[in-house]
Amino acid sequence: MDGPTSIETVAGLYTRSLDVLASLRARGEAAVERRAPRLPITRAAELVGRTPAAIREAEKDGRLPTVERTTSGRRVGYSLAEVNQMRGVFGTRPWRGPQDPVSVIAVQNFKGGVGKSTVATHLAQYLAIRGYRVCLIDCDSQGSATTMFGYVPDLDIGEEDTLYPFIRNAEMRSLAYAVRETHWDGLYLVPANLKLYSAEYELAARIARAEPTLLNRLAEGIASIAEHFDVIILDPPPALGTISLSVMRAANALLVPVPPTVIDFTSTTSFLAMLYETMGALEERGLPIDLRWMRILATRADEQKSMQRELLGLMRTLFGELLLRTVLKDSAEIDNASARLMSVYELEQPVTSRETYQRCLTYLNGVNAEVETQIRLTWPSHAARLRAEGVL
Ligand SMILES: Nc1ncnc2c1ncn2[C@@H]1O[C@H](COP(=O)(O)OP(=O)(O)OP(=O)(O)O)[C@@H](O)[C@H]1O
Ligand SMILES: [Mg+2]
Repeated sequence: MDGPTSIETVAGLYTRSLDVLASLRARGEAAVERRAPRLPITRAAELVGRTPAAIREAEKDGRLPTVERTTSGRRVGYSLAEVNQMRGVFGTRPWRGPQDPVSVIAVQNFKGGVGKSTVATHLAQYLAIRGYRVCLIDCDSQGSATTMFGYVPDLDIGEEDTLYPFIRNAEMRSLAYAVRETHWDGLYLVPANLKLYSAEYELAARIARAEPTLLNRLAEGIASIAEHFDVIILDPPPALGTISLSVMRAANALLVPVPPTVIDFTSTTSFLAMLYETMGALEERGLPIDLRWMRILATRADEQKSMQRELLGLMRTLFGELLLRTVLKDSAEIDNASARLMSVYELEQPVTSRETYQRCLTYLNGVNAEVETQIRLTWPSHAARLRAEGVL
């Protein structure tokens, strides 16, 4: 009954799939209507590094604006923008100092589906909550990170909104055109859509025609916006193509998510081999990869499975300190949040149970806090404070 699959059939499928995505987006909240979660005064105080009493005092004496209240007189909670304003007033912003290098973190593994985009998005939002100035750059034409901010890449994002123009036009000087605000104060996004796939091929062809320095374009774009940020997070595609090479070239830190399954472990071993060869090959061309730190992160782990427990143990022995202590376990909460084109950090209430949600937040915060420490260790102005905080 089925005839040959024609181009029209595929085109029809694509159009209908876009319709499905549009209705999914409508069920969640579109990017323009989204709000980062509001925080109660105790949480706000903890994040600002002052007591609730100090916040009330500052509101009373006019250093801080009076906060909106419900009809019963309760504070409605603070937005992240208000928390950041408090940090400004109390002098507790965690920004890097003028001599501290911007952190450019690639969340990379050439294997697909290991949790790169999930890790990159949650790390970006965690750091924004902590008060850092963050830019998340979606370098993947699949646009998963872009989707988690409420956009349907092929409907909402044009090629002119992505990295694509900057990568192909050597005369462009600044990537600022592609940096957009998000509903998280202090967190900016460079979105991606399918068009970025063309960049992959165009770059490959031009590099083969003796333009190897094109691999520096992403690094140049990042340099053009770096002064505005403390941390820039790169979410690359799952392949060793020219975009991934550009990501490696631009990054100064590497976070490698690895699920503890034999297949994923095998491909991570290949990733390390490719990384090693790539670093050597680029260095020979005068384009060295310069990493200040690298960490491996066990993701999507299911400790109910004895094989996974065993592999986790092996990874711990093998990678030692390079493996983050916290494991990002497989969680229905992450799946459910991403089905709503959201992150776990912006769910106002658990989708599953309170317990599952809290457990998931504990893993996410544990992983992200370890990464935060790595970042701060690369900032001389922070290293002494880390020692004072007893982290070192
Ligand atoms: N810890 C986790 N628990 C449950 N689901 C997860 C977890 N991490 C990732 N996922 C889910 O797995 C799927 C793949 O994750 P993600 O898109 O982050 O991987 P990726 O490595 O970026 O994939 P790609 O290689 O295609 O870019 C998503 O549906 C995501 O919601
Ligand atoms: Mg991804």
